[in-house]
Amino acid sequence: MTVSVSIHENYDRLSEQVARIFARHLLNTPDTTFGFATGETPKQFYERLAELYDRGFLDFQQLKAFNLDEFYPVGPDHPKRFKRYMDRHLYDHVNVDPRQVHVPDGTTDQPEKEARAYEEKIRRSGGIDLQLLGIGCNGHIGFNEPGSAWDSETRVVSIASQTREQYSVESEPLPDQAITMGIKTIMHSSRIVLMASGTRKAEIVNRALNGPVTREVPASILQLHPHLQVCLDQQAASRIDESYTNDEDPVERIEQEVAQS
Ligand code: PGA
Repeated sequence: MTVSVSIHENYDRLSEQVARIFARHLLNTPDTTFGFATGETPKQFYERLAELYDRGFLDFQQLKAFNLDEFYPVGPDHPKRFKRYMDRHLYDHVNVDPRQVHVPDGTTDQPEKEARAYEEKIRRSGGIDLQLLGIGCNGHIGFNEPGSAWDSETRVVSIASQTREQYSVESEPLPDQAITMGIKTIMHSSRIVLMASGTRKAEIVNRALNGPVTREVPASILQLHPHLQVCLDQQAASRIDESYTNDEDPVERIEQEVAQS
């Protein structure tokens, strides 16, 4: 299987392209289920989506969404809480139904139970139609750190020290655990868009796409997903094997593939 890779001039163009993929999907299927990610990378993507809503192009009323992960434990007002991130970057700006958009509850005192219930909620809603992923510098997807089992479901995990460094803020200590969708949960999504920006991601993007499929690089499993679209800016693409052709407008082709499968 060939991985579809689109390479964009810069972060702005990358964000625009990823927003187009999700916007188009939502227009075609208003009651779809998205899987959302947090972090630095998708910030402008959410901004673009909110803009499309403002301009009257998108309606989020029927959307269902599940976020990949959440820190554990977090207080309701923790600055790094992903629930807050989603409200700030998207949900406060569009007409989502708050009962239909989900982030694992990092404030609970029963995290294992929350993780099992979250997995079940995804299953009951019919699974994720389109999942957005970032990639950590160590190859993690969600908080599935190196070594994660391929058949893992939503569960409580320890956060790798490299990841903690990436996220840490001086003002608030970072929780050392998280609740994350598992690798299996992610791989069950019908379509996946992996988004990466900047030279700090170049090396791991190449290992994930061109290296062996190994638990040491959790994102490498994505090579086996039948409908994966990798969207990069030029910096993140600077180390990938030249044999990848730049598939600049993959939306239509992937939609056809999904329709035929
Ligand atoms: P970033 O995080 O977008 O902040 O680089 C991505 C990730 O760690 O998955």
